[in-house]
Amino acid sequence: MVSKLLVLSALCSLAVSKPHTRSLAVHEAVATTPRGYVRTAPAASDSTIKLRIALAPKDIDGLITTLYDVSDPKSNLYGAHLSKEEAEAFVSPTSETVEKVNEWLKENGVTATPLTDAGDWLSVQIPVSKANEMLNADFSVFTHPTTNKQVVRTLTYSIPDTLKGHIDVIHPTVSFPNPKGRHPVVHSVSTNNDTRRAADATCSSSGITPACVQSLYGVPATIAKNSKSQLAVSGFIEQFAQQKDLTTFLQKFRTDLPSTTAFTLQTLDGGQNPQGNNEAGVEANLDIQYTVGIASGIPTTFISVGENFQDGDLDGFLDIINFLLNESSPPQVLTTSYGDDETDVSRALTNTLCNAYAQLGARGVSILFASGDGGVGGGQSGESCTTFIPTFPNNCPLYVTNVGATQLSGTSSETSAGFSSGGFSNFFGIPAYQASAVQSFLTTLGSTDSGKFNRSGRAIPDVAAIGTNLEIVVNGRTELVDGTSCSSPIFAGIVALLNDELLAAGKSPLGFLNPFLYANPGAFNDITTGSNPGCNTNGFPAVKGWDPVTGLGTPNFAGLRKAAGLS
Ligand SMILES: *[C@@H]1O[C@H](CO)[C@@H](O)[C@H](O)[C@H]1NC(C)=O
Ligand SMILES: *[C@@H]1O[C@H](CO)[C@@H](O)[C@H](O)[C@H]1NC(C)=O
Ligand SMILES: *[C@@H]1O[C@H](CO)[C@@H](O)[C@H](O)[C@H]1NC(C)=O
Repeated sequence: MVSKLLVLSALCSLAVSKPHTRSLAVHEAVATTPRGYVRTAPAASDSTIKLRIALAPKDIDGLITTLYDVSDPKSNLYGAHLSKEEAEAFVSPTSETVEKVNEWLKENGVTATPLTDAGDWLSVQIPVSKANEMLNADFSVFTHPTTNKQVVRTLTYSIPDTLKGHIDVIHPTVSFPNPKGRHPVVHSVSTNNDTRRAADATCSSSGITPACVQSLYGVPATIAKNSKSQLAVSGFIEQFAQQKDLTTFLQKFRTDLPSTTAFTLQTLDGGQNPQGNNEAGVEANLDIQYTVGIASGIPTTFISVGENFQDGDLDGFLDIINFLLNESSPPQVLTTSYGDDETDVSRALTNTLCNAYAQLGARGVSILFASGDGGVGGGQSGESCTTFIPTFPNNCPLYVTNVGATQLSGTSSETSAGFSSGGFSNFFGIPAYQASAVQSFLTTLGSTDSGKFNRSGRAIPDVAAIGTNLEIVVNGRTELVDGTSCSSPIFAGIVALLNDELLAAGKSPLGFLNPFLYANPGAFNDITTGSNPGCNTNGFPAVKGWDPVTGLGTPNFAGLRKAAGLS
């Protein structure tokens, strides 16, 4: 009863404010229904839709210049990261933009809620009929035939001519979610009955432990000095990290750490984190066990993102970034082991996500992503393809660090993991920081697989870490997992330990890593064997120097310390 009254009064207030007639121009459109979805019905005109509106940032070029200045070891401004307010000043829309957009919303009787303190994202909740009228859209129910996944989207939307250059993107509109969902990048899982002594630092193909990772990369087991270094782990799609399993993991594999070591929970957008028998998510447990298990004593937060916004694949990525941007001191490292393919998201939406990563980077946060587990065939293994598929969020690959995977070869050296995704973006050109490293690789490669990938695109991964046969605990049992999902948490843990020493010495954290990493190729164990097959090819070879299987290589802790100016 109450809600009906509310709906009625909302409709009345819409009815009294008569929209002016505005001339509209198509802002984004897709030619055909993407990803096999079929339009099954118009969206009910009185149902409510939540839209996010990204307003044009005031000075995105200034933000990007500053990002590189504070992230490039050669710059005088290296490490001079921005405060929340300084970063927001670059992306806040101009007062002209705010006025024009507000005027349009007011004409339509629509009230917006800001989603960020910078005011660059607004949220509106309106009836579908209103959205169709304001945006000259046709919001419809699209159904995916094999998964039965249903989404409300439109194939085109328009904005007033006068708002071109003021509105960057409205979402969800033309970006269709992957019907299989955002997926964790765990490649395979098997049960394990390895009974070796857990703290045994000897690496063995029957199971990689934290002690083995420490010995491979020279990572100290000593507990962090400075609790200001923090680490955050993204949790999506109802993957829940279990404290009980973390405790068992520490009791088994890090007997030198207090087994009471806990992660902190942060929930967003209706996210949860139930603790109970059989609630464990393999991905979530892996991510927590190899961050806490490597970054000894570094406070680690598990960010569990729910699906309240229901706007498809991108919602979690946007929610996490906007949440961290609103913290005055966000964790200096974020690792994410979920991904998709580059083709999933519209360019306009991709660009707004990029702006958000750039902002966080300029504030001194290292953003790491698993590169994907389908070799050159994309985020998901087993997909058919004729050209190589770059993985998401290589959708904004420029300002994040992508981590590929290796496997053990013998007891103390590594070779590429065949599933390690790598390749070249079709959306973003090659950034200066990697241009010469990538050019050397292309010269070595010659014309192999020519035409199957974009030689001028941003190339991934940047680095790698061991990602095959990791021992984890899930619902009380030890299992072995493979995937670049193993590699990103390990690399993130190492960055958090370096940050700990830097902060303790009164220095800045590493922040956006790539300019620093490519300036110090000697701080890596170069992986020169193996390849990443896919799309009916052998994939790219790992070679001397950078390659699109293992990037610059796996971390050498002593080398990275030295490069970071720690002695
Ligand atoms: C940002 O955080 C502050 C304080 O925690 C909160 O009051 C504010 O509502 C947040 N802003 C947004 C846009 O969520
Ligand atoms: C445990 O491992 C041994 C070999 O290492 C194997 O023969 C045995 O079948 C395994 N047991 C279980 C329960 O998997
Ligand atoms: C290749 O990458 C460049 C640089 O990002 C881009 O401009 C171009 O459109 C891409 N080519 C194709 C075929 O996608």
